[in-house]
Amino acid sequence: MGSSGQAVLFNCYYQMETSVPEYYEVLGEFRGVLMDKRFTKYWEDVETFLARPDDLVIATYPKSGTTWISEIVYMIYKEGDVKKCKEDAIFNRIPYLECRNEELINGVKLLIEKESPRIVKTHLSPKLLPASFWEKNCKMIYLCRNAKDVAVSYYYFMLMITSYPNPKSFSEFVEKFMQGEVPYGSWYDHVKAWWEKSKSSRVLFMFYEDMKEDIRREVMKLIEFLERQPSAELVDKIIQHTSFQEMKNNPTTNYTMMPEDMMNQKVSPFMRKGITGDWKNHFPEALRKRFDDHYKQQMKDCTLKFRSEL
Ligand code: A3P
Repeated sequence: MGSSGQAVLFNCYYQMETSVPEYYEVLGEFRGVLMDKRFTKYWEDVETFLARPDDLVIATYPKSGTTWISEIVYMIYKEGDVKKCKEDAIFNRIPYLECRNEELINGVKLLIEKESPRIVKTHLSPKLLPASFWEKNCKMIYLCRNAKDVAVSYYYFMLMITSYPNPKSFSEFVEKFMQGEVPYGSWYDHVKAWWEKSKSSRVLFMFYEDMKEDIRREVMKLIEFLERQPSAELVDKIIQHTSFQEMKNNPTTNYTMMPEDMMNQKVSPFMRKGITGDWKNHFPEALRKRFDDHYKQQMKDCTLKFRSEL
């Protein structure tokens, strides 16, 4: 679609306010988790998905840095060949397993057609992940990010995904986030379940904040986990190619290859800020306190510790 076509769609979006769906029109409870109804409509395809032993799973709660770690892993797989990384949009190179919109988008189909070794993106919790990945003992990477920054990033994401309901004010959205009334449900349940899994399975548990703090150390960790050969040259190339600025300007990673009638980057860019601590610009003090109290309650029995500033 040309830029003028996109502009027309953009205008329509704003003129036809009625086209913005109601909250529970698109989202519905599925096995105890709020999910995009389009994704769960053909759940059998996801549930019966056949993993291959050399599949790598990249699992995250939305807005935790999935795209960042995916591009790093892809660079490792391609031994630092930037040209190969730019051959296609990231969402085609690393299909999003459960993503489905009738025949328009079908993550399962994309994956079935992919040659091995495949890299699989998912936001599913361990209990919803197809059993085959566990049976085949696939390697998995779970990346997480502190809850308040995830909530901020998710708010802007909900605004720019045109088929998603309007999240209204930030504080209204935060209330929903705290109750798990957002796509993929409770952030608390998600991180806790994956934390438990990482104790017994081949799951590398990573933090966005650690990557912000020392990307070299974290890239080395990934190379080691993937049993590839580390070299200073490879690590340098990865760091350069996957910096926030580089990925923001790269059409294959910044989601500008996604039609504007799905993701409206004029509302908010996909590559928004890429920092730790942006929550400080969004949470009024009373909301911050309410959130932190609720957080303590939710995470009280969990040994998992997050940093929300560096
Ligand atoms: P912000 O909205 O806080 O900027 P996901 O890929 O899971 O949807 O996560 C998106 C978040 O990761 C966005 O956060 C985005 O800016 C950030 N991000 C993407 N690439 C990044 C990079 N190279 N470095 C730091 N943050 C990055």
